[in-house]
Amino acid sequence: MEMLANKKVLIIGATGGIGSETAKLLKQSQANLFMTSRDRKHLEKLADELEVPKDQLFEMDVTDSRQVNEVADAIHAKADQVDILINASGIGILKPIDKLTDEDFSHSLDVNLKGTFYLLRAFVPPMKESKKGMIINLPGVLGKVPMAGAAAYAATKYGVNGLTKSVREELRRTEVRITNLYLGGTDTSFWDEIDMPVNRKKFVTAKEAGRAVWFLCQQPNSGVVSEMVLQPFNHQAI
Ligand SMILES: NC(=O)c1ccc[n+]([C@@H]2O[C@H](COP(=O)([O-])OP(=O)(O)OC[C@H]3O[C@@H](n4cnc5c(N)ncnc54)[C@H](OP(=O)(O)O)[C@@H]3O)[C@@H](O)[C@H]2O)c1
Repeated sequence: MEMLANKKVLIIGATGGIGSETAKLLKQSQANLFMTSRDRKHLEKLADELEVPKDQLFEMDVTDSRQVNEVADAIHAKADQVDILINASGIGILKPIDKLTDEDFSHSLDVNLKGTFYLLRAFVPPMKESKKGMIINLPGVLGKVPMAGAAAYAATKYGVNGLTKSVREELRRTEVRITNLYLGGTDTSFWDEIDMPVNRKKFVTAKEAGRAVWFLCQQPNSGVVSEMVLQPFNHQAI
């Protein structure tokens, strides 16, 4: 896929279900991948499989703004700017309001919302300067519609929606694309610890979600895909 060949693409949360499937497709399209995870070993295993050079791997926790800034500085020193930033990191704590602890709520905010803020603050400036670039976020349908048991998660993802759309307003005079992909239930390890009756067999597969992200990386020159929704047939919330 010529459009993606040699494009510098940074995947945050590259070892996750959606992140890793996206990475595989982007590699097949000859993108120049940069990848992050908190788990160096897991990241190196994926990088070996995809033949991503070790100096393009970064151990990073998105809740630590210092780490995010250091990774951004290292990448910008090496590559000027990334062409595409994909934020595939995130956690889901899904519990009814009376069961949510302070820790659950704070941790959800730290990873999903503050993490996105730290990433945008670190990676938008060179894009703004060059007036080019693309940022793909995964707020999920719960960034747009409510669901019982999703108070903490939806609060963070509605926040991501407001945050990213406001940044889009700041970039109006540029050709920086901000794209939000609203996925419904997708079968990844995201759901492993969630105590909720769901039928994962009917979910969108991680491969198809990765394909959606890969597709969004190939936007036409003359326009921007600002939103896309992909959800299971049996749970069309939007
Ligand atoms: N699965 C779904 O049904 C669904 C639906 C809509 C939207 N989404 C969104 O899609 C994104 C990816 O989810 P997924 O389904 O692929 O889940 P996943 O398989 O659990 O992957 C989540 C990723 O987030 C990373 N992560 C978690 N905490 C982090 C932290 N503090 N700092 C840096 N990275 C962190 C993990 O990386 P390490 O552990 O390697 O650091 C992992 O790679 C999330 O934002 C999620 O909210 C998922």
